[in-house]
Amino acid sequence: MVYPYAGNLGGGGFMVYRLNDGTTGSLDYREMAPAAAHRDMFLDSLGHHDSALSTVGGLSVGVPGTIKGIFAAHKKFGLLPIEDLIDPVIALAEKGYVITDKQSARLAQYREVIRETSGTESLYTKVISAGDTIKNIALAKTLKQLRDQGEQAFYGGAMAKHMSQFIQAKGGVIQMEDFQNYEVHWRDPIAFNYEDLEIISMGPPSSGGICLAQIMGMLEPFDLKELGHNSALYAQHLTEAERRAYADRSHYLGDPDFVNIPTEQLLSPAYLAEKMTSFSTKTATLSGAISHGNIVGHESDETTHYSIVDPMGNAVSVTTTINGAYGSKLFDPELGFFYNNEMDDFSAKPGSPNMFGLIGGEANAIAPGKRMLSSMTPTIVLKKGQLWQVLGTPGGSTIITTVLQIILNTQHFNMGMQEAVNQPRMHHQWLPDVLQFEYDGFSEDLLDTLNQKGYKTLKKAHRIIGKVDAIMRHSDGLLEAGADPRGDDAARGF
Ligand code: GLY
Repeated sequence: MVYPYAGNLGGGGFMVYRLNDGTTGSLDYREMAPAAAHRDMFLDSLGHHDSALSTVGGLSVGVPGTIKGIFAAHKKFGLLPIEDLIDPVIALAEKGYVITDKQSARLAQYREVIRETSGTESLYTKVISAGDTIKNIALAKTLKQLRDQGEQAFYGGAMAKHMSQFIQAKGGVIQMEDFQNYEVHWRDPIAFNYEDLEIISMGPPSSGGICLAQIMGMLEPFDLKELGHNSALYAQHLTEAERRAYADRSHYLGDPDFVNIPTEQLLSPAYLAEKMTSFSTKTATLSGAISHGNIVGHESDETTHYSIVDPMGNAVSVTTTINGAYGSKLFDPELGFFYNNEMDDFSAKPGSPNMFGLIGGEANAIAPGKRMLSSMTPTIVLKKGQLWQVLGTPGGSTIITTVLQIILNTQHFNMGMQEAVNQPRMHHQWLPDVLQFEYDGFSEDLLDTLNQKGYKTLKKAHRIIGKVDAIMRHSDGLLEAGADPRGDDAARGF
């Protein structure tokens, strides 16, 4: 209700959980390609990727999973009646919420494209200033139907018919049957060890868990503390592990219901050690010299995340998205939300970059009913077998490396959670071969040292990497939150 930039009835996401008895699991409520989708749907007559089609308007919309995800989680774990959860949101939609400075600036940035896509009368097309109160009466009506009739109101009846007709009128191909056929999946999370930590994260169709495990597996043999936090040598080590992992991401990862992913081999210590043998601290390994490994036998700051530990010690880490800022920019005036543009997370054309610059491979090609590869990395960390951290972030392709840096900050540099979240961040994703830095916190000397070693560095004004919302459980049971000052993020204890 208060964050149309990334929220979310028109989107999807992933939840990783750990119950107080140690049971872990994950819920995949990722969007899905409609039945009428096809591999070349975003190519023009010359075979070029038309990125406008995959990012804006009806054709960019994947079948939303959020409502099914919320009801599935409630059915399996919920203690409160659904009306207790939805009524406060309905009240907020009817009463309205106050626009912050950051929201006002973002809305101004995207107003023109929202107007072109959704019309001059659309709720978020109007000029909205910081301090204004926004009511969303259409959303309140939608939520009342969901409260009274359950998920079927969204996926089975008049609402599904309306959504498919609305999206088709805007150039899309989603049919009512796509809503009826949408299913969530309970999946095994990716779990791996790093020193005395056990890290539980999201598996495919998110690349987050596998990519994080690969990077941390490549880094574990090195003494990162000795290198110095955010030093040139530290940046080199992270970059070289990240580019090698993202090269594998591009080649091997996609929807596990459509492609075979060699997870065991990708995470084997021998395979990861072999990948790092070409690393020298003297000079950068250029990404052009790296390809996916051979094994025998695919923001920007969109998306959003929340981390919760309840009074019983159960933990959930949820990253949820409509992909780009305000998704497809297509706002449904009858239902009160933006639709996602998640179809851009497929590789529209193998080798052609998506909105995050990620190069996709065959494993992530578009197919009917298939889920697009994600970078979302909702993560739970245990230390010596006890719950230690719940964390995650938005940020498209930078999600994985942001989660990595929070874990390393806390594990190797003795930081609390807020301190770890506040630290400046960097990111490398294989291609483009650029080591990106946040604008504040990295000296020109550091960048010069890296440039001399052959690294292409980039530091742009106002560039931020991720908006982390995380919790650390201290050994005395105290919960410390890290709410990212880069956004309007906040922490609350009840
Ligand atoms: N839409 C961003 C992601 O799933 O990675």
